[in-house]
Order: sequence, then C-alpha cells, then structure tokens
Amino acid sequence: MANAIVQLEDVNKEYGRGKKTVAALKDINLEIRKGEFIAVVGPSGCGKSTLLHVMAGLEQPTSGRVLLDGVDVTLISERDLPKVRAQKIGFVFQAFLLIEDLTAYENVEAVLWPSVDHTKEKQEAMTLEVLREVDMLERRDHFPRQMSGGEQQRIAIARALVNNPPVLFCDEPTGNLDSKTGETIMKFISKLAKEKNMTVVLVTHNDELTKYAGKVLNMRDGAIR
Ligand SMILES: Nc1ncnc2c1ncn2[C@@H]1O[C@H](COP(=O)(O)OP(=O)(O)OP(=O)(O)O)[C@@H](O)[C@H]1O
Ligand SMILES: [Mg+2]
Repeated sequence: MANAIVQLEDVNKEYGRGKKTVAALKDINLEIRKGEFIAVVGPSGCGKSTLLHVMAGLEQPTSGRVLLDGVDVTLISERDLPKVRAQKIGFVFQAFLLIEDLTAYENVEAVLWPSVDHTKEKQEAMTLEVLREVDMLERRDHFPRQMSGGEQQRIAIARALVNNPPVLFCDEPTGNLDSKTGETIMKFISKLAKEKNMTVVLVTHNDELTKYAGKVLNMRDGAIR
C-alpha cells in the first residue's frame, strides 16, 4: 500500500523453545497508514506489547517481515538498528523509564540522534522545543523524583518526540496514572499527533481511551481478529 507506514507480513513471534514455546504472535498481517491513530486492545497476555515491540524494531520476529516507513527492520544489522529506531519511532512506556539521575532536559537531550547540521545550539533548541510542546519547559532542571507521574510521562513523551519520528508507539501510557491525569496525557498525545501528522499505535486496557483512535484492533491469543 502506497501510504503504509507500518507493514507486517506473516509475522510470528515465539518465546522459548521446545515444549515451553509460547506463540506470542501468530501470522499477523497488518498495514497502518500515515497519520492513522490505532488502538490495540485485548486481554492480558494476548500479545499487545510483543506486537508493539516487533513493530517498533525493539524485538525481532521469529519469522515474517516488518516494514517501518519502507525499511525492513528484520534485515537491519544490530549495529544500525539504534539509528533506524531513533529516526523512525518514538516509544512511550507505562513505567515512564526516565533516567533518575538526569534532569528532565537531560533525559530528552540524551536520546537526540546526532546529525551533521546539529550544532550545540540547534540541539538545545530542539530539546527546549519538545519540552515546550508538552508544557514542561519550566521543569527542565527537575529530576524525575521531583515530578508527579503525569509530569514524568510528559517528559517521556518529549523524549519520544525529540527526533521527530513519523510513528509513536505507546504501551499503556496512562496505566500508572489516575484517570484525570491519564486523560491529560492522552490529550497531549492526540494533540501532538494531529499537529505533527504522526501515526500513533496505542496499547490500552482502558476502553474509554479508544475514543482517541480512528481504528481499534482487537487482539486475542496472539492474533488480530
Ligand atoms: N521474554 C519473554 N519470554 C517468554 N514469554 C514471553 C516473553 N515476553 C512475553 N511472553 C509471553 O508472550 C505472551 C504475550 O505477552 P505480552 O507481554 O505481549 O502480552 P500483553 O498483551 O502485552 O499483556 P499485558 O496486557 O499483561 O501487558 C504472554 O503469554 C507472555 O507470557
Ligand atoms: Mg503488555
């Protein structure tokens, strides 16, 4: 498909070996178009996180092809994967995963992928720009422990966006937050996605959050129904 930004072809993912093998993804075929907002829902253990990790090039499938903005991530060497990930995807986790001894600013700047036209000033401007977008500019010198859960997640969103990736993956981004803060976070994600014409793939347990999505994928037992 011409407009596809994520394509999965006959993707299988197995964990373990022999009798203990778990088939986490079973023959997944899927196309996500540029600018789509997709929610993935389904019971615990059905393979949602595995699907997201495989789509994002964080984990390799056991078989099948995964195309991310035209690049087959199953063919990229271990050495080149970090660059492809930095350029193509942002990832937001349920547990924020900020580095505790770096400030908000440093957490975001740390993942900025170097480019020939990135002077020190340019890097600083890019970091400040995403902090502004998530409304956390005034907290840039704070450490994660000095921020609320919602604020930490906003920093994690800024970190996911700093390289301007075309696709944003969010795995239960509001799972550790109260419902009101969760709504605020979802509004940020949805607003930024629209402004930047980004593709978003969101995993959630919360049916309420599927209202942000243009399309809902139901997963059961490693397959999309
Ligand atoms: N590293 C691993 N080794 C072995 N099995 C794994 C591993 N990671 C996941 N699994 C198994 O793969 C299946 C899918 O797991 P996954 O984490 O993708 O589920 P999920 O839908 O995200 O669940 P939850 O909603 O609880 O986060 C589960 O049966 C899980 O136990
Ligand atoms: Mg999960």
